[in-house]
Amino acid sequence: MSVLVVGGAGYIGAHVTRLLRQDGVPVVVLDDLSTSSAERAGDATLVQLDVSTPEAPDAIAALIREHDVDAVIHFAAKKQVGESVQRPLFYYRQNIGGLVNLLDAMEREGVRKMIFSSSAAVYGEPVEAVVREDSATMPINPYGRTKLIGEWIMADCERAWGLQWVALRYFNVAGAGWPELGDSAIMNLIPMVLDRLTSGEAPRVFGDDYETPDGTCIRDYVHVKDLAEAHIVALNALGGELPNHVYNVGTGTGSSVKEVIDAVGQASGLDTTPVIEGRRAGDPPKLIASADRIAADLGFKASLGLTEIVESAWQAWQAGPRRIEV
Ligand code: WQD
Repeated sequence: MSVLVVGGAGYIGAHVTRLLRQDGVPVVVLDDLSTSSAERAGDATLVQLDVSTPEAPDAIAALIREHDVDAVIHFAAKKQVGESVQRPLFYYRQNIGGLVNLLDAMEREGVRKMIFSSSAAVYGEPVEAVVREDSATMPINPYGRTKLIGEWIMADCERAWGLQWVALRYFNVAGAGWPELGDSAIMNLIPMVLDRLTSGEAPRVFGDDYETPDGTCIRDYVHVKDLAEAHIVALNALGGELPNHVYNVGTGTGSSVKEVIDAVGQASGLDTTPVIEGRRAGDPPKLIASADRIAADLGFKASLGLTEIVESAWQAWQAGPRRIEV
């Protein structure tokens, strides 16, 4: 028996792959390596494949048979909001096409268990600051829509052929469980702050006139290691009777942009005094996960806070190619 981790060489997937391998679980990583690198798959079996291609279902079915796969964790997807607005069909082909191909192979080979990477982006711009899983889902960009449609597809497969699935809706994932597994993309707040500091520039704050205590946007930052553990917990729960399929993964508390930038200053010892810029389009002032459902159904609670997130992100940055001399 083995677990197929699709996108298992990526930022979050590599953390889950490593936790599974530490537990002695045989893992097959499928990854197109477009935004990741082979060494992140560690000692798992690595197969390079883009799951959105027409030949993928047959190739995945053969892998499932060869490695006696009995569960799939699916991370492989495009995740840049702006790019998804520019190239919607690319996003639908990659994210929806890839999921459909994977489920096709699973159905054929009788694999019933699936954990899926969803996102807080399915909520769009929620009215509530603390978002529950039964809050309205109104994604405002193609990226968010691919995640919501993915959830619907899995619900249909459950009805049709008994798929057992969980979708984890990630909030703001950051940090590193191991220094060599840090987030290599410069797309989110903490890497963007570290990137600016590396080039000797001040971090940027996109708007300090929001209706929040310090005027900057509030998000729910969850440590990638906590998030990885949520996948293991969900996977282990899949065989039983789960009352729900969709779970937020966050901490239930928020941090402001200024607090995050200050925490980077604390962790690094650098001067992180930011420059204030205008608001970024589409940023909700406050977005925090309700973490109640996953606690009640799966017994999962994030254990790491902003300090651990930022310190681990800093250590990972310093272990990488753009180390800052301090
Ligand atoms: C956080 C806050 C910025 C950079 C996005 C996607 C979401 C999900 C996660 C998924 C915001 C502010 C940022 C900077 C700043 N994607 N900021 N200065 O927008 O909450 O969520 O990533 O897979 O779908 O929308 O995350 O990290 O971009 O921004 O002030 O240099 O930091 O305006 O308030 P966001 P983020």
